[in-house]
Amino acid sequence: MVLSDDLYNESGKVLLIRAGERITEKTIGQLKNLGTEDACVMTCEETYEKIMNAKEVPPEIRQEMMEDKFGYTKLRKEVRNFLGMIEHAAEPEYEAAQEVTGEVTKKLGKMNFHDFFECINVPRKIDEDLQRHSLNIAFLNGMMGYWLKMPEEQIQLLVMAGLLHDIGKTQIPEQILYAPRKLTKEEYEVIKQHPVYSYELLGDQYDASVRDAVRHHHERLDGLGYPDQLSGDEISVFARITSICDIYDAMVSKRSYKEERLPFDILDKMKHKEYGGLDPELVAVFIKNMIRHFKNSQVIMSDGITGIVSYIPPNDIDHPVIVAGDVVRQVDDTWYCRKVLREEGEY
Ligand SMILES: [Fe+2]
Repeated sequence: MVLSDDLYNESGKVLLIRAGERITEKTIGQLKNLGTEDACVMTCEETYEKIMNAKEVPPEIRQEMMEDKFGYTKLRKEVRNFLGMIEHAAEPEYEAAQEVTGEVTKKLGKMNFHDFFECINVPRKIDEDLQRHSLNIAFLNGMMGYWLKMPEEQIQLLVMAGLLHDIGKTQIPEQILYAPRKLTKEEYEVIKQHPVYSYELLGDQYDASVRDAVRHHHERLDGLGYPDQLSGDEISVFARITSICDIYDAMVSKRSYKEERLPFDILDKMKHKEYGGLDPELVAVFIKNMIRHFKNSQVIMSDGITGIVSYIPPNDIDHPVIVAGDVVRQVDDTWYCRKVLREEGEY
């Protein structure tokens, strides 16, 4: 829990804890030691919104609260335990995979897209990278299934493929996987084996479509992917969808801490085929729906002004039209989005 208001002593003259500070057992103990025996910690209906809007709340705490509220933290921990199990026992337990798959699928229809986006668009700690990526692709895959109006059981399989696609990375030495430098050719070859490892880890109880998508999520339509150099129709729809979602999540998390990697830029690059070998029809579905959801997002502009995305030109996605007060202006090189927030007034 985080304190929503500055807390003073009884005389109101001594500041005890600042708003935005985390309340721990220790803090509560300290308060009790001050002799305020009837001290209690209260939360109220508006607390969440108030904290989220308070300027003094550090971004990492806002992020944590956001993830808790969405249910992302709980799911991420389940994925973490699942991946931990594979790392030690090398056996991805089917029931555990099914459990997470079920929970993600259940959320898909009723979740707030902006909340989800806030959960995925964050710089990641290295030790959380794989769990977050696996969970994000489970969600993104599921959304694609939803947008493509697939039947529920197909969506479930797509979610499961997303969850499992990179489990083979648990078999790759960390010094290669997280090397903070350019990889050697040999090391890159080792990394390229991860879809095979993912595939081999999955036993017969996993659906063939899931196993296929897992093995082939790095294949490309032009035959330039790996590990089997498939091309065109040899690549399943599930594998194609997983590739698109995989690239989106990798791009959105790969950024310097100074500047946010904006969805508009990634989607524009996707549209202009800068990530080669993706299925153009599926990319079009992905982009169309992402644009729909990012409309009305709040953005912070390069001059510090907050605006609302009022229009995203489908052929010029990285130059959306922003409304800021009386100003209606299209993004250009001199006035650009620095950060995407959520829809106005929606917490
Ligand atoms: Fe991968």
